[in-house]
This record gives sequence, C-alpha cells and structure tokens, in this order.
Amino acid sequence: MTTTLITGGTIVNAEGQITADVLVDGEIIVGIGVGRRWQADQEIDARGKLVMPGGIDAHTHLEYPIDAFTTQTSDDFATGSRAAVHGGTTTFLDFVKKAPGNTLWETFVERQATAEAKSIIDFGLHAIVPPTSQQADVHDDLRRLTAERGVTSWKFFMAYAAQMLDDGELLAGMDLARELGVLSLVHAENGHMVSRDTDLLIAAGHTQEHYHLQAHGHEQEAEAVHRAIVLATAVDAPLYVVHVSSAQAATELAQARARGARVWGETCPQYLATAYEDYEGLGDAAAGYICSPPIRERSNQDALWTHLAAGALSTVATDHAAFCMAQPDDLPPQKLRSPGYFPKTPNGVPGLEDRLKVIWELGVVGGRIDPCRFVDLMAASPAKLFGLYPQKGTVSVGADADIVVWDPEADHIVRAATSHSRTDYNLYEGMRVTGMPVHVFSRGRHLLDDGVEAADPGPGRYLARTASGTPVPSRRKSER
Ligand code: URP
Ligand code: ZN
Ligand code: ZN
Ligand code: ZN
Repeated sequence: MTTTLITGGTIVNAEGQITADVLVDGEIIVGIGVGRRWQADQEIDARGKLVMPGGIDAHTHLEYPIDAFTTQTSDDFATGSRAAVHGGTTTFLDFVKKAPGNTLWETFVERQATAEAKSIIDFGLHAIVPPTSQQADVHDDLRRLTAERGVTSWKFFMAYAAQMLDDGELLAGMDLARELGVLSLVHAENGHMVSRDTDLLIAAGHTQEHYHLQAHGHEQEAEAVHRAIVLATAVDAPLYVVHVSSAQAATELAQARARGARVWGETCPQYLATAYEDYEGLGDAAAGYICSPPIRERSNQDALWTHLAAGALSTVATDHAAFCMAQPDDLPPQKLRSPGYFPKTPNGVPGLEDRLKVIWELGVVGGRIDPCRFVDLMAASPAKLFGLYPQKGTVSVGADADIVVWDPEADHIVRAATSHSRTDYNLYEGMRVTGMPVHVFSRGRHLLDDGVEAADPGPGRYLARTASGTPVPSRRKSER
C-alpha cells in the first residue's frame, strides 16, 4: 500500500486548526503530528497551504431523470464525479427516484450499480419517497433499503405534481423514518400554490423565463418549511430542509431551532452568489438560472449569510442538476426545449465543481465565515447529519484519507470553458476566486496532483450509512 506524507500544512477541521504533518497509509489517515521522523513513498509539501477534509456535497442529481422521465441531467456519474474532484469534493450524496414500471427497491439497485461503475469518488444515495399512488407497498422497500443498503436519509417532495406528498403521506413517512433512525429531507415549497400561480402567469401571457420566480414566492417556501417543521415535530422526527433559498424560510428554521427543534437547513451557492437581477433581462437565456426554489432577489442574500454564520443553516450543498444550453445530439431535451415558456424549462443548475471556490471566496475571503466554519458547512456537518462521520468530514487519525490541500493564495477565474462538468455555461462565469484545491485525495488515491488529474483514478465506493455517525463498511459486489 502507498504511504503519503503531507508536511507543514495547516490542518483545518470544524473544531479548530493546527499546523502538523499528516501520514496516510493506504486508504486511511494513520498519523498527525509535529517533528516525527515519518517516512513515506511520496511527500507533499503543504507549507503555506491548508489541509482540509474533502468536500461532501450532500445534494446532487447526476444522470437524473426529471419531468416524468422526459429529460435527464447532463452530467453522468463519471463526468460529475470528475468535476467534483477538480473542485475539492470527494463525496457526494445523490438521489434515487422510483422509475415507472419498477419498484423503488429495483430502481435503487440499478442506480447504485450504475454509479459504482462510473463514479471515481465515494457516494451515497438518498431515497425519494414516492406518493403511495405510485407504489402501495413503498414503506416495505424503504425498510429494506435502510436495513440492507444503509439508506438513512429519505427525501419527501412537497411540490412538483408527480412527486408531491400530502400531509398524511408526509406524516406516515416521517413516522417510519423516526422509527428507523432515518433523517427526513424535504423539498419545501407549497406545490398547490406554485401550480396556481404558474397557471395565473400563463393566463396573463407571462411565460418568459424570468417569470419562474413569481410562481415560486417566498411565502410558498416559508409555508412549506413551517408545515414540514410542524409535521416532523408532531412525530418527533429529525428534519433536514434541502435548498433553502428564501430568507423568510430560513427564519422559520432559526425560530424552530431556538425552540430546540431537531431541524437543519441546507442552502446552495446559487442562492448566495447569484440573484434574480442577474437573469431578469436575459430573455430565453434566463433558462440557465431556472431552478426550484428559484434564485431570488439580491436583497435576500445577506440574510442567508447571516443564518449560515449563526447556525440556522447548517450545510452548503449544490443541488447540482446540470443541463446544457446548446442541445447535444446524445442527450434528451435540455435547457432550451421550450424557449420563452418557463413552465416546461427543465429545473436545475450546475455547481458541483464550483461550491468550495465560490463559498471560500464570498464566505472566507469576504469575511463572513472563518475557515473552520467553512469546513463545517462543506464537510463536517454533512458527514455528521448523513451518517458518515468520523469516517469522513474530518482530518483525523482513523478517518478515510479524503483530503484537500488548499492553496489560499491561488488566483483563478471561474469559466465554463475550463470546467469539467458536462455543461456549456457557468452561473459564476468570470468570477475571480482566491483559493483552489491543488491536491485531492480520495481514500488515499491521489486524484488531483498540482492540478493534474490522475490518469487511472480507480473506482469510488458506495457508502452504506448509519444514522449514528458510524457508517457500516460498504460491501463488495460479491457479498450482495
Ligand atoms: O430545480 C431543482 N432544484 N432541480 C433539481 C430537483 C430538486 O428539486 O431538487
Ligand atoms: Zn428539490
Ligand atoms: Zn435537488
Ligand atoms: Zn481536468
């Protein structure tokens, strides 16, 4: 097994920073210390650099079917995981949505195998809980997925006609989640209000892309967040609200947490670094910014940062759902499949490669959060919430050697043309960032070496998770 010594860097964990050497043996960190006479096969000089746990993106949609399976996101598990590495992310959590004609269990097994064959980094999968009208015995599959595949997080949709659950289904699902030690995730928007407002906009002829924002108001998100908190609290289930975009919704979380409720919120770079004002005047090209909940007014951003710094929001994930603007031959209809008509624009934006750079620049360089809070938001908290800690999310003895050596002085301009995601635009195009991953290790494999990617990266591994923070070791294919 290869040994690696990373010398002289400043190790940044959520709890604090120290300057020390890190010794890696095979897949695991085996030593952290100062002045030791460690020998290793390769040595990395990290003086002047930060040594951080690899980023964990708890919310991605790779080769993900949407709009009743009529289209699919453009990044597959190969291109998406490679883009992640270039951005300093070494673990992602994606989703399984029940396919028509298959059960949730069958869909899961197939998708896990697809991802195992393609991903170059470790990953887990959240289960999306379908309405019982789509699968009457879905709770049996959820039990089995949790017991046999370590699926300890399930997502409930409160919006999107084909996926949304009513309050009874939410209560029943959260009840089961609590019983099994599973974390309940919600996409919190009031789907009925979104549908009604979309219909009103269509009737008024207001279908240009930027009107998407008006169909997804702050109230619709805040109402759903409030209701999700009430329902989860009623059944004593811990709750994680994905992609919080509205300051009003974040305030609901802050108030619930102040009362002691077990609720957590995630926000995304697109809500912090871009705004409605950036796409309002773009015409059809505003399709590139359409996601749900929407990218909101610039005046909304400061409050999100305040909630991130103060703790009402606990993680930053991307909700990476990439599409192309120009239609490639080998992909189903992408962003511009219905120019001038937002109700049919595929929802979702890219960001998997940009997350650490953008949040470092605006958050740490911008003086809003310190490096420890950065690591907490990017790696430690997602690891703890999703049953991966302390295997991941920390640079500690015994942890997986998922390590990012970060150059806080590196100067870089974000451009789609030099990015690795399979898309032809970037929300942060032209943004100057100070701070870049120069070395990236995934379980000891040196995937990025001074910016150069490994020729033969090897496979990532499916992560069977527990709710307790002690993940079950993943099983080999032969053991299943
Ligand atoms: O617009 C979005 N967020 N697309 C991805 C699917 C989802 O709702 O998370
Ligand atoms: Zn969502
Ligand atoms: Zn999503
Ligand atoms: Zn590359």
